[in-house]
Amino acid sequence: VSEPFSEAPVSVVVNGDPWQGEVPVHELLVDFLRDRLGLTGTKRSCEVQVCGACTVLVDGRPTSACSRLAYDVDGRTVTTVEGLELEDGPTPLQRAFVDEVAAQCGYCTSGQLMAATALLERHDGRPAYEEIAEWMSGNLCRCGCYPAIARAVQKAAVETVNEQPARDVDGY
Ligand code: FES
Ligand code: FES
Repeated sequence: VSEPFSEAPVSVVVNGDPWQGEVPVHELLVDFLRDRLGLTGTKRSCEVQVCGACTVLVDGRPTSACSRLAYDVDGRTVTTVEGLELEDGPTPLQRAFVDEVAAQCGYCTSGQLMAATALLERHDGRPAYEEIAEWMSGNLCRCGCYPAIARAVQKAAVETVNEQPARDVDGY
């Protein structure tokens, strides 16, 4: 009787750094990142792909790390919040989050940043508030920072594409 298949090889690039090894087949991506690589910026909360706190980018696509197995990212690239910073400091989006005070407790913030990063990478202009709300509907904020988060995303988009200032989104 053969042994059950318990470990799987993984070759992945995380925040630009290659990693190769074997992981238990049941290991979740969130645990791989937090416990194996020490990248604790990725948070776990609901664990059932509802809250978005664990959002990372896999090949540029927002992914719930709580609901994906680590071995399933074999051959892919993963970006966590630790990988966002540019050589000369925070990204325009990170600076906009600070400027707009788009966080209170901050627990959801890394997931919000990852989802918003993916949105800005896909958008060639300044996303409307409704587009931001729809795109980021999978990222919950128990502190209710949604208007400030949207302002931050629009501000970062303006900075990125050098467009006109974003319209006021208060009152959403
Ligand atoms: S912890 Fe992954 S979606 Fe909530
Ligand atoms: S800032 Fe507290 S959950 Fe979003």
